[in-house]
Amino acid sequence: MNLPGFPVIRPRRLRQSAALRALVAETHLNVSQLILPLFARSGRKIRHPIKSMPGVFQLSPDEIVREAASAHAAGIPAVLLFGIPDNKDDRASGAYAKNGIVQQVTRLLKNELPSLLVVTDVCLCEYMAHGHCGIVQNGKILNDVSLDLLARTAVSHAAAGADIVAPSDMMDGRVRAIRTGLDEAGLEDTPIMSYAAKFASAFYGPFRDAAESAPKFGDRRSYQMDAANAREALRETALDVSEGADIVMVKPALAYLDIIRQVKTEFGLPTAAYSVSGEYSMIKSAAAQGWIDERAVTLESLLAMRRAGADILITYSAKDVASWLKE
Ligand code: PBG
Repeated sequence: MNLPGFPVIRPRRLRQSAALRALVAETHLNVSQLILPLFARSGRKIRHPIKSMPGVFQLSPDEIVREAASAHAAGIPAVLLFGIPDNKDDRASGAYAKNGIVQQVTRLLKNELPSLLVVTDVCLCEYMAHGHCGIVQNGKILNDVSLDLLARTAVSHAAAGADIVAPSDMMDGRVRAIRTGLDEAGLEDTPIMSYAAKFASAFYGPFRDAAESAPKFGDRRSYQMDAANAREALRETALDVSEGADIVMVKPALAYLDIIRQVKTEFGLPTAAYSVSGEYSMIKSAAAQGWIDERAVTLESLLAMRRAGADILITYSAKDVASWLKE
């Protein structure tokens, strides 16, 4: 570009009023882009607060319906369901049980709020006694034998009515296994939103309180990605796309905006950014001290994810964001 420069060019001309700024804004936040994560557990009238995530609760099915209904009334199109089972074992049987907590809540939500999109997190960690995302043998997280359980989990969610299944385990080949499982079950129209570039991140700390899914030994570094790697994130994403992912996700979001941009540019697929628990809790705690403005920082962070290329924003603040966008 050959700009004549100052004083002919004055970028401040277009910043003089809110109306002018809105007219030339390149990126927008809209309630239609938001997905609200929800944590389901059994019982009735339970709203169990999560200490490390102020404003987030483990909810019994009746309360999930209330929460989802109010989110949907505010314009939020979708929820992302996580389950906390009554019992954990070493085969994650609660993950693919026909009447598991996520399956129950999915049926209930599709019944009560048919136009709300139900996205289900497909993973084994919440259902495993050891807290890892796959089958464990002699301290090792096994890949191929875990695929069958993941596919069964996804099929059981879709059979219960899930609109989208979202595998977050990071086993190699899971998208193919899930796609095959869904197709064989006659669920070829169920889309897969894969956590394609999911990093082994300390930002998941508060979530593990919420989902009671912290690993009992070791960590997730043998399956989730190393924070150092961007090229590998593209390779991971390419694999998921080739295996049939319809929507790809980058997670966490704020510390990985470069990955969001590269994934979007390279694949041009619908791209989701998951603003994870640690991102939420950092904003909440600083705002509670009066050190930052929660609303402004939350909206600015989400706008940055949009600017980086995210089409879909998964955020625990979705309900607040919906109401702020209305003001
Ligand atoms: C399950 C899963 C995790 C998150 C989403 N799905 C935790 C993990 O991988 O340890 C994290 C979400 C968040 O921190 O908000 N595998």
